[in-house]
Amino acid sequence: MRATDIIEKKRDGGELSAEEIQWFISGFTNGEIPDYQAAAWLMAVFLRGMTRRETLDLTLAMAASGEQLDLSAAIEYAVDKHSTGGVGDKVTLVVLPLVAAAGVPVAKMSGRGLGFSGGTLDKLESIAGYRVKLSDEEIIRQVREHGIVLCGQTKRLAPADGALYELRDVTGTVPSLPLIASSIMSKKLASGAQAIVLDVKVGAGAFMKTVDDARALAQTMVDIGVGAGRAMVALLSDMNQPLGCAVGNALEVREAIEALRGGGPADLREHCLTVAAHMVRLGRREAWPDALDAIIQELTGLLDSGAALAKFRELVAAQGGDVRQIDDPDRLPSARLRETVQAGRSGWVARMDALTVAQATLELGAGRARKTDAIDPAVGVVVHRKVGDWVDAGDALFTVHANDEGQLALAIAVLAGAPLLGNEAPQPPPAFYGTISGASD
Ligand code: URA
Repeated sequence: MRATDIIEKKRDGGELSAEEIQWFISGFTNGEIPDYQAAAWLMAVFLRGMTRRETLDLTLAMAASGEQLDLSAAIEYAVDKHSTGGVGDKVTLVVLPLVAAAGVPVAKMSGRGLGFSGGTLDKLESIAGYRVKLSDEEIIRQVREHGIVLCGQTKRLAPADGALYELRDVTGTVPSLPLIASSIMSKKLASGAQAIVLDVKVGAGAFMKTVDDARALAQTMVDIGVGAGRAMVALLSDMNQPLGCAVGNALEVREAIEALRGGGPADLREHCLTVAAHMVRLGRREAWPDALDAIIQELTGLLDSGAALAKFRELVAAQGGDVRQIDDPDRLPSARLRETVQAGRSGWVARMDALTVAQATLELGAGRARKTDAIDPAVGVVVHRKVGDWVDAGDALFTVHANDEGQLALAIAVLAGAPLLGNEAPQPPPAFYGTISGASD
């Protein structure tokens, strides 16, 4: 085979065979196919798209390009989750211990944030000593002993995706449905789960701005998962406003602990209960949707009794973190400067733009613009009013946590564009716009 033939075939709208895709991906991964040919091929895929079968073959080739975690020594039927990324998305921190507390073992590998929000690993690293790097042996041992692991994914997992993503980032080929779906799903398949819950975000603070686009991405990922023999559920969830109130790494850990104590913002609690219930149902292989309500009730009990919090504490201890910060979140990193932003007028909150809030937290140093940027765990924004709330002039809209006066001023200026106050009571957005599920026969 020749790389040029494969590039030209895709450029001219042809359908690549499984062998061609596999040959190209393994050639690129082992360095035989240079970046410039891979870049040309990516652009051809971007412009011509891929069939369902090609997308599945591309995903399988990328998943097989490196190590694949075999969890079978510890978990008979493993369940995983993935969020496409949102502002204030601390769901994994709540859901993983909640699912484990329900007796369904979980071993999840998470990524770091890039762009406007920190990733789960960045959030976890605001807990002193928490080790995100675990060997496969440590993962297996910990999941056997504690039923829960939350660690980073190694470069050895789906390395073709890492290398292709770097090229996509600089060649204008990121926003392609088959490329996004195969990128996400290759890492999920390589992480060893038999069942996967996808939390596909929609709206201003998400990759996908419309429900239709999010549905298309969700369906493509569900099809890939089913094609690869996995049981799949994809939830389409709102990301027009931040999830919960806290945006920023340690602030989000603190809010996750509140949720694990049975409190926290109502939207975060509902969201976590729904995602966790789908994971538990899949883990127990119960029918959908019949079992869901009873599982949500059971999980509500685990939040309210402190059982989920105890599991989180156990996780943090197992991975070397300082549990005193979980028992007393005031010990988490906190910023030197705090300033409240007040509403300039009375009205109904008609919008609380997630992207603008995220941009303000970026100004504070809570996220990274480049992979190598350091992040400040302590800084961020707490949103006090959500869409549908009434505010009086002078009420607090945000509290900004900063470590630098200049960054604080910039963040406050950016935040001015986040809320829209109106005279009519708006309809708050739904938590979820729909669910797509699938399983192979
Ligand atoms: N997240 C990924 O992992 N890959 C993409 O292509 C987009 C989002």
